[in-house]
Amino acid sequence: MEIKTFKNPEATAKAFADYLSEIQQEVNRLNIALSGGSTPKLLFEILVHKYSDKIEWPKFHFYWGDERCVPPTSGESNYGMTHEYLFQHLDISEENIHRVFGECDPDEEAVRYGKLISENLPPINGLPQFDLIILGLGEDGHTASIFPHQMELITSKKVCEVAEHPTSGQKRITLTGSVINNAKEVCFLVTGQAKAEKVREILNLTGDCEHYPASYIKPTHGELSWFLDKAASGK
Ligand code: 6PG
Repeated sequence: MEIKTFKNPEATAKAFADYLSEIQQEVNRLNIALSGGSTPKLLFEILVHKYSDKIEWPKFHFYWGDERCVPPTSGESNYGMTHEYLFQHLDISEENIHRVFGECDPDEEAVRYGKLISENLPPINGLPQFDLIILGLGEDGHTASIFPHQMELITSKKVCEVAEHPTSGQKRITLTGSVINNAKEVCFLVTGQAKAEKVREILNLTGDCEHYPASYIKPTHGELSWFLDKAASGK
């Protein structure tokens, strides 16, 4: 596991963009799962403004680690956010964008999206293997849409599961911990003081870390890194 700390959210997003630009040079295809929420917005802006011609976008096949069960036009949609901050500014073929149909029946969509991933990604250890999964961290220690009240989603052998937001009750589609830990590489991209306590507990295996889904993200055969700003690293 590697922990990389940067002075502020901009420097953290820039460093991650650099890293993405680097790793894509070494491959012909990159199956990547994006995180949702607000943290990726800055990364996407930097990719558009500084890397649009430095990255070979046709190599990328975009998936999501989780999605809210809302239409793509909703302000809550992770796909919608990615379209607004990244895709609409770049020439990325629709064939390379594999969004979760948040507008569909959650149970059916979890099966459909899991099947799509299994059909398109190489099977390793009986599960599809992503090249790179970007994860965020919630203030309650959740990651993707695996929340503390649904820890069973960490060990689920399915590819995707339906999850539920603990306070809003909003349905979510999420990759399971098994698929996340089957990835070649997992990168947490986490910024802001609000995350510092959970980051400290998870990285030091202290406090209530055993109740935080993010504590169980340990790729079986892959790499794990944390891209943190100073505020989130608590330094
Ligand atoms: C989502 C996410 C979720 C997110 C964390 C952090 O759909 O909400 O994928 O796991 O990464 O909640 O969210 P922020 O980046 O907004 O703090």
